[in-house]
Amino acid sequence: MPKPKVFATHGLFDVARQILQKSCDVQYWTKPGRPPREEVLQQVKEKEGLICLLTEKVNEDLLREAPNLRIAANVAVGFDNIDVAACTKRGVAATNTPGVLDETTADFAWTLLMAVARRLSEGEALARSGNWKNWDLDQLVGTDVWGKTLGIVGFGRIGRAVARRASGFQMKVIYTDAVRPAEEVEKELKVEFREMNALLAESDFISVHVPLLPETRGLFDSPKFYRMKPTAFLINTSRGSVVDEAALVAALESGKIAGAGLDVYENEPFIHPGLKRANVVLAPHIASASLETRTKMACIAAENVVALFTGKRPPNVLNPEVLKVS
Ligand code: DGY
Repeated sequence: MPKPKVFATHGLFDVARQILQKSCDVQYWTKPGRPPREEVLQQVKEKEGLICLLTEKVNEDLLREAPNLRIAANVAVGFDNIDVAACTKRGVAATNTPGVLDETTADFAWTLLMAVARRLSEGEALARSGNWKNWDLDQLVGTDVWGKTLGIVGFGRIGRAVARRASGFQMKVIYTDAVRPAEEVEKELKVEFREMNALLAESDFISVHVPLLPETRGLFDSPKFYRMKPTAFLINTSRGSVVDEAALVAALESGKIAGAGLDVYENEPFIHPGLKRANVVLAPHIASASLETRTKMACIAAENVVALFTGKRPPNVLNPEVLKVS
């Protein structure tokens, strides 16, 4: 029996390749950068499996070119690049990689929070420039993190991991989410629920951890920024389109908020020029980018593919209904 043919839009890591090699015949994209769209569309024509990154759109256009495709395995927890409904219609299983990147992403939300509060980017630029003349009492004074109020928008696994880290900073933690966890969770994590508007008004730092859905697109808009404290900071490691970037730029320019720490953008890799300011710390979508975590993500994607092709349920299938009909 020939092994099912799979296209991986990245070379992945050796351990992930080992998982795949027993049951699949994988063609890897190993050239630098992301494969051009035409290449992906060409590759999927004959393939039964696709392992992709969040830079590849798995939509009707792609699915039309891929009549034999049975699985699209995203190497990311977020799957807004995948049209799951279109996959379901065509009987293609869609999978993601939840769970393994929570702690690493939470670490990075804190990295941004600390960096913007304590003006690390400006300090680093000064230290490297050769223009640092002397210690001064009011030089690059930032804002304290410890003892402040942290507001978490989206209280899933990553939001909770961010909350857990706040206790070392003696912070008050409040959160908002459409679904409230059990009271024991609130007690254990020492967090209090707030409605969105109350959270906006009370927080010194707001960290966003919601998936990109039709109802969260542009969630942070002008009225939201208007409700925030002028001394507050917005941290976003979720998806860029959860924030209305033009509104954020306007809020920063007019001093409606104090600053932002951003890892994600509306039109990556484009970054709105208005965000390139001293009080914004910018990162290129690397919140999950530790070698340990990225390796695990690749392995999980590989396991999902192998599961499907060996007649098992992929552990992270997003549309299990396709398994029932196949
Ligand atoms: C994801 O997994 O969705 C991240 O954005 C990349 O780790």
